[in-house]
Amino acid sequence: MSADPQPTTPGPGPTRPGMLQPALAVVLGLAVVGFFVGTDAPPIEGSPLVQSDGDNDAHIDSFMPTYSDAQTRASGVGMDWDKELASLRGDGRTATVSLEGTSKADDLKARANLRAYDGAPPTIPHAVRQSSAAECLACHDAGMQLRGRVARPMSHAPYASCTQCHVVAEAPMPGPTLAPDATFATNTFVGLASPVAGPRAWDIAPPVIPHRQFMRERCMSCHGPNGRDAMRSTHPDRQQCVQCHAAQSGLEQRPVLPHPSAQETRP
Ligand code: HEC
Ligand code: HEC
Ligand code: HEC
Ligand code: HEC
Repeated sequence: MSADPQPTTPGPGPTRPGMLQPALAVVLGLAVVGFFVGTDAPPIEGSPLVQSDGDNDAHIDSFMPTYSDAQTRASGVGMDWDKELASLRGDGRTATVSLEGTSKADDLKARANLRAYDGAPPTIPHAVRQSSAAECLACHDAGMQLRGRVARPMSHAPYASCTQCHVVAEAPMPGPTLAPDATFATNTFVGLASPVAGPRAWDIAPPVIPHRQFMRERCMSCHGPNGRDAMRSTHPDRQQCVQCHAAQSGLEQRPVLPHPSAQETRP
């Protein structure tokens, strides 16, 4: 008797093709029938998710104008927010500027009050949340005129952390409320004073820039429409300021100090 190598009963292994096709057909058929039965269900009356025909349509229409209606619609509250925001930015570059009745002395004093010295970062004269630079930039990028006050545009590139250099002028900063420390020497630092005007070659020649340009790259910040009154230029529409206003080379250079190695005594 020779041993039969093939199993005689059907075991686990490849399914027999004869049964697979009818089973698939049944599953697919049920899925198709189920889909159509499910999507054809009538709306449930009273459900807040179902829009019924009738009076409600007028109400819905008033909220959802067509695209053509939206073009001709009268503006309502908040609809012109972009124009309203732009109007807070003050005069544009083409507005006529008159320096009549302005006082440079007053404006320079108001400016100096917020600074340790000319060129120092001004302190912030209002409360801040310090949440992000984007918040400061909403008012201090192009500048903003609010309730009679003017948020000056910043004079430099939009850095990421404004409060790294600008600190709030009053409490909650602890500095002014602390008792003076007797072990500290009295501060005798005297900062730079602001220039009053630039030298001119002759009467109506363009004045030379009487200050450094570092951190003052955006000339319009101080001399544009949102700058202090007496410091505005009468020609904000011009673009290339340094084409006519020359820099003073002395101001842009670091003081020349003797190199330390020149003084070293070598053995
Ligand atoms: C809602 C608008 C608004 C926001 C936001 C705002 N400011 Fe101001 N800021 C003003 C106004 C208005 C003034 C002028 C206040 C005055 O003249 O009394 C001002 C003044 C300043 C000044 C003094 C500038 C100068 O030389 O006159 C600095 C510095 C300043 N803000 C920094 C900041 C920083 C930093 C932030 C973000 C943490 C910030 N501001 C957020 C409106 C704003
Ligand atoms: C690296 C330090 C530094 C950072 C960071 C910085 N500033 Fe300044 N900022 C200065 C200095 C310095 C000046 C003063 C420039 C001058 O008067 O020469 C100034 C000036 C200003 C002024 C006054 C311009 C004027 O009219 O005199 C405003 C407003 C201002 N910065 C807002 C901001 C805002 C908003 C941010 C964040 C996006 C910011 N600054 C980040 C250093 C900084
Ligand atoms: C942070 C503020 C600030 C910025 C930014 C700034 N200036 Fe000035 N500028 C001053 C101050 C303060 C004075 C001296 C007071 C005055 O003359 O208005 C001055 C004076 C001047 C004067 C002389 C005006 C006169 O009446 O004699 C010229 C010209 C000038 N700046 C050009 C520029 C140019 C160009 C830039 C851009 C590269 C610039 N400024 C950026 C603050 C600024
Ligand atoms: C085409 C040449 C020219 C250009 C460009 C120019 N200026 Fe002037 N600027 C002048 C002349 C000329 C004066 C003197 C005007 C006078 O005394 O009547 C002057 C005066 C000024 C003054 C003193 C106040 C005033 O208006 O009399 C300031 C500030 C000033 N310019 C800033 C600027 C700034 C900021 C820019 C760039 C936006 C600029 N200028 C671009 C020629 C120019």
